[in-house]
Amino acid sequence: MAEETKTVLPLAKGVVPTGKLHEMRKRALEDPEGFWSEIASELYWKKGWDKVVEGEPPYFKWFVGGKTNLAYNALDRHVKTWRKNKAAIIWEGEPGETRVLTYYQLWKEVNKFANVLRDLGVKKGDRVTIYMPMVPEAAIAMLATVRIGAIHSVVFSGFSAKGLAERINDAQAKVVITADGMYRRGKKLNLKEIVDKALQETPSVESVVVYNRLGLDINMEEGRDYWWNDLMEGAETYAEPEWVESEHPSFILYTSGTTGKPKGIIHDTAGYMVGVYATMKWVFDIKDEDIHWCTADVGWITGHSYVVYGPLLHGATTLMYEGAPDYPKPDRWWSIIEKYGVSIFCTAPTAIRMFMRYGEKWVERHDLSSLRILGSVGEPINPEAWWWYFKHIGKEKCPIVDTWWQTETGHIMISPAPGIELVPLKPGSATFPLPGVDADVVDDNGNPVPPNTRGYLVIKKPWPGMLHGVWGDPERYKRTYWSKFPGWYFTGDYAMKDEDGYFWILGRADDVIKVAGHRLGTMEIESAFVAHPAVAEAAVVGKPHPVKGESIVAFIVLKEGQQPSDELREELRKWIRETIGPVATPDEIHFVTKLPKTRSGKIMRRVLRAVISGKELGDLSTLEDEASVEEVKRAVAQLR
Ligand code: WTA
Repeated sequence: MAEETKTVLPLAKGVVPTGKLHEMRKRALEDPEGFWSEIASELYWKKGWDKVVEGEPPYFKWFVGGKTNLAYNALDRHVKTWRKNKAAIIWEGEPGETRVLTYYQLWKEVNKFANVLRDLGVKKGDRVTIYMPMVPEAAIAMLATVRIGAIHSVVFSGFSAKGLAERINDAQAKVVITADGMYRRGKKLNLKEIVDKALQETPSVESVVVYNRLGLDINMEEGRDYWWNDLMEGAETYAEPEWVESEHPSFILYTSGTTGKPKGIIHDTAGYMVGVYATMKWVFDIKDEDIHWCTADVGWITGHSYVVYGPLLHGATTLMYEGAPDYPKPDRWWSIIEKYGVSIFCTAPTAIRMFMRYGEKWVERHDLSSLRILGSVGEPINPEAWWWYFKHIGKEKCPIVDTWWQTETGHIMISPAPGIELVPLKPGSATFPLPGVDADVVDDNGNPVPPNTRGYLVIKKPWPGMLHGVWGDPERYKRTYWSKFPGWYFTGDYAMKDEDGYFWILGRADDVIKVAGHRLGTMEIESAFVAHPAVAEAAVVGKPHPVKGESIVAFIVLKEGQQPSDELREELRKWIRETIGPVATPDEIHFVTKLPKTRSGKIMRRVLRAVISGKELGDLSTLEDEASVEEVKRAVAQLR
């Protein structure tokens, strides 16, 4: 059998499948009350819940009647035990400095910062925007926010001033927490400048807290901007946690969808907490001795659930690294694994593919024998990358947990679960839904499709970490997730199940693309293009890319009197970086005089996708003007 499709058996010799995983999956769906109650009882509740789950699509409540606090469970619970002096966060800065915060130290910082926020007037339910580099203070800010019952909205530091302003305004944030700057590939980036620009159009913001990371000489506006350290100096050292109702929102996280505007996904407190806690145990098999390193930025859901909350809820040690993966050399990550004895490592396929290109020699310089579990997250992992990861990083000893989930799902949904029982792995398959996840693959009418047939991935029953709406837009919540298949959650992904029931995720069924693991909406990029004075129309599609998974390709129709030129192309690229952020920088920009459209005027993106990847064009009977396709073909050929 070709290596690509070979099944990898559970790795310990002589292991016979016990069926425990499938038994647990069955029980969780048959008896959600009993199943989730047992898990939730491992956490602290100020007031116990009356019912585990209640409601009807699209709104459900978890642990109804309960009261708890996410930060209390992540910190205070451990500070009362021997874990008080255990490392909670190990941090390495890009220039190489190390900081270790024990549970006690982290707890103290969070308490103090919670008081800082209260002193700034932040109350239960208020929104706090966090725009920070990967420093422990980002986690401190998140934990302090939920400690006082406020709601955080972390915005990835790769978003521009406009992107930040849009998110601050949508959430109506009262406070923004940021840093003077951050390191990226040895360069000092000024973050505060971006924040200052954003704040010109964000009337809701009353105060800004600035963490001094670089010692930059920045603008500090009297009465609005405060240095983190100055405020912390005067802060009381204990902050009583706000005991919030189970369904109280803990955070909003903006993500891209099919329309131009990012949507604020709302997560609750108790369901999210229990779901992240359970999956941390099942998928990563987290133990007290572990050093857990998930390379995600805190600006994404993976950073929320598996850098900050998941590990801390277990009293585990989480590692944070500030900088670029291959800086100063392509062995930076492997040197970190060796230096700290990382045992669980989780990253995105795009990073694996990048390291594959650098070659094994960079890996071989380091002793990676501390590793025991490898994770993959955020996009499909191709078998080639899977095998490289398995052989060269895991030395054929570590299972790869290919984790499928979304910002909306809060925690991992489909994945191998070595913390329960490791099933034979198939490279490229996320294996089975975790206990409590009722996933299926269906056709347009909602009927399950036969094995090895593509269909839509749906979730048929509520799960603990599920989203609880789109901030300020209940209609969009219903329309996007609950109307294609009434009563079920629509994931937006294509998938199939094979003859053994394994799930294979086949990519998005909508206009969302994944570029280097970052989720972007093509319509979001299109609306940014048409906001440029020279642009009349724009169509954006994803093109398969060997490292990034997908890259951004744009087709632009210019306004009358505008001439296509390389300068304009550069200007538009810069424009996108400024309006959305560097994450959305297009790889290719093609100028055309018309876009392929249907007779009713809809852009035929599938035709554009076919042209750029040299595939069959498919059915063109609805196309309005054939010349548009010829022009697109010519433009693509010219630029290559
Ligand atoms: C994709 C990231 C294949 C999928 C946690 C999903 C994956 C979107 C996988 C969510 C995987 C995530 N295999 N595709 N293991 N994990 N995806 O919100 O298309 O940034 O819908 O959450 O990423 O992206 P998001």
